[in-house]
Amino acid sequence: MAPQARATSLALLFVVLLLDGAATTFSASSEADVLLKFKSSLDDEKNALANWNGGSPCIGDQANWIGVLCTNGSVWGLQLENMGLEGEIDVNTLLGLPSLRTLSFMNNNFDGPMPEIKKLEALKSLFLSYNRFSGEIPANAFEGMSYLKKLHLAGNQFKGAIPSSLTQLPRLLELSLEGNQFTGQVPEFEQHDLLLLNVSNNQLDGPIPASLANMNSSSFSGNKGLCGGPLSPCTPASSPEKKSSSSSTTMMIFAIVAGVLFLITLILLILCLRRQSHTSQSIEAPPPSNLQKKASFKEEGHFRHGSPDHSSNGKKAENFKLSFVREDREKFDLQDLLKASAEILGSGCFGSSYKAALFTGPAMVVKRFRQMNNVGREEFQEHMRRLGRLRHPNLLPLVAYYYRKEEKLLVSDYVENGSLAVYLHSNHARGKPALDWPTRLKVVKGVAKGLAYLYNELPSLIAPHGHLKSSNVLLTESFEPLVTDYGLIPVINQENAQDLMVAYKSPEYLQNKRITKKTDIWSLGILILEILTGKFPANFLQQGQQGSDQDDLATWVRLVAGEADQWPAEVFDKEMRAKSGSEGEMLRLLKIGLRCCEGDVEKRWDMKEVVEKIEEVREKDTDDEFYSSYASESDVRSSRGLSDEISYTIPI
Ligand SMILES: *[C@@H]1O[C@H](CO)[C@@H](O)[C@H](O)[C@H]1NC(C)=O
Ligand SMILES: *[C@@H]1O[C@H](CO)[C@@H](O)[C@H](O)[C@H]1NC(C)=O
Ligand SMILES: *[C@@H]1O[C@H](CO)[C@@H](O)[C@H](O)[C@H]1NC(C)=O
Repeated sequence: MAPQARATSLALLFVVLLLDGAATTFSASSEADVLLKFKSSLDDEKNALANWNGGSPCIGDQANWIGVLCTNGSVWGLQLENMGLEGEIDVNTLLGLPSLRTLSFMNNNFDGPMPEIKKLEALKSLFLSYNRFSGEIPANAFEGMSYLKKLHLAGNQFKGAIPSSLTQLPRLLELSLEGNQFTGQVPEFEQHDLLLLNVSNNQLDGPIPASLANMNSSSFSGNKGLCGGPLSPCTPASSPEKKSSSSSTTMMIFAIVAGVLFLITLILLILCLRRQSHTSQSIEAPPPSNLQKKASFKEEGHFRHGSPDHSSNGKKAENFKLSFVREDREKFDLQDLLKASAEILGSGCFGSSYKAALFTGPAMVVKRFRQMNNVGREEFQEHMRRLGRLRHPNLLPLVAYYYRKEEKLLVSDYVENGSLAVYLHSNHARGKPALDWPTRLKVVKGVAKGLAYLYNELPSLIAPHGHLKSSNVLLTESFEPLVTDYGLIPVINQENAQDLMVAYKSPEYLQNKRITKKTDIWSLGILILEILTGKFPANFLQQGQQGSDQDDLATWVRLVAGEADQWPAEVFDKEMRAKSGSEGEMLRLLKIGLRCCEGDVEKRWDMKEVVEKIEEVREKDTDDEFYSSYASESDVRSSRGLSDEISYTIPI
């Protein structure tokens, strides 16, 4: 029996090895073939791709062929811009490039319908602007492109509706559709990370969804029929004297719609409760169907409900009980939240979050988690109570939770000023002022303190935060940072955690598949670099699987600082409006950020060291007297290339 089994497994191993070998030789020889085949369907009148002939397109990270972007010997991008190209974009052939992540054919003469791009599932960016593409784009044209971050289709002749699959892309950051002939309404985009949206100069009409109300008005200009949001308010009738009567009609329509929605949700609720009491005395609560409903009908914005008396029967109300982890809060239950006006705040990587304004009390945020179903009720409760005991001025307190087997809700306070991510990356779009250097420093100091507190209070967690990133740092009115979504690693399903959480993007996880006590320090480092550079870290992350040599924001900073043999001014976010005399301190913080990102965990600072170093950073380089002499000297210094500063910056 045993020898036989061994023989089988050996044979299996052999087959695997054979297949493996075949695959490597295939991919090694074929990227050139794939590109040549791709080229053959192009019409390259100017012979721009003349050097696409012999040899390998890529050697290491170096490209031998024009317009090819390489990483580790494979093609990860094609940048064929301004080449007068025409013909067919042969997507099926491109499937032969497994590392392909970015494609640009901007400023060429391609025409015809939108290529069937969704076959390239791993694509992160696609630039087709300024060609002659035309026709309608099917609604599902982008379905399943879960990595797509940037899509630029400006300056073509696309018409018809904006494809609805765009609203579902979880990672979309930039969408540029201006200068086409799109018609119909602007759809509701679910992404709360959307940094750039431009639909100007099309033929769109109707109201701009509320979620886009904060975008720059130039994103919508040149569409005769659009209204609302950043543009002038919608009035159904054009003549002004009709305005009041027409707005009351709108009100009536709204009231009716709200009424109908309320009835539907009520019926669903009652059905749910009925079914529950009929079937069994199960302890499982019904899904918060009301919240769900509101979310999917969120086009209506907020709408208020009357009180659903029908369900206020004691035992059933029990099902909606929130468990409070804090004593100092006024109690409410899920029904109060359901009765409150809910508004979707965004869908993060774990699920949606909603803002619910209680009638009596303050506004709360309810976050849904579906990826917490591997922990039992006891364990979950225990952990939530532990998180509920945390108190720190830089932590957003957990207030309550709701437990169901397949789904958990976490309730916390609503913070008016929103997240740091919005301030860093879409202040233009949302008309908010950029954060200046003193504020950014204050944020860094606060976050570091909050994180240090977590290290102290949750010593048993390897990564006490685990998911530190700019969208999990909220800002109070006085720009004091409040860290949120901390301490969740023990309750998130392991497989989801690895896909979604920041800790699992760290170099140590990518290389050795493990996180360490210093993993959160890396996240803090990336956050510091993000705060100082204004760059969005996710844009620098390579796909984890292939990259042993990791690419992150720190790599970029090192690269820029390394190439410029002088004051690396372009590293810093220009929006920061640094006053002269703070450059030295900014650079100091930048270096601290880089030290935190140190790929070698042994060499990376520990929490205590980091907090000390950060606390030493000041707004100004020195006192005022010295500052003026420094300022007058600064021209000389920068023309000398600041070589002494740099030699200290670069060795990382
Ligand atoms: C949108 O595109 C138009 C050109 O059609 C440009 O003028 C405008 O500045 C763009 N707006 C944004 C926010 O990018
Ligand atoms: C809108 O964008 C334009 C250019 O993109 C800029 O000049 C203008 O200041 C922006 N407006 C707001 C309110 O941010
Ligand atoms: C580069 O390719 C080699 C051989 O295919 C592989 O061993 C290595 O892990 C790859 N490195 C990266 C960074 O992908």
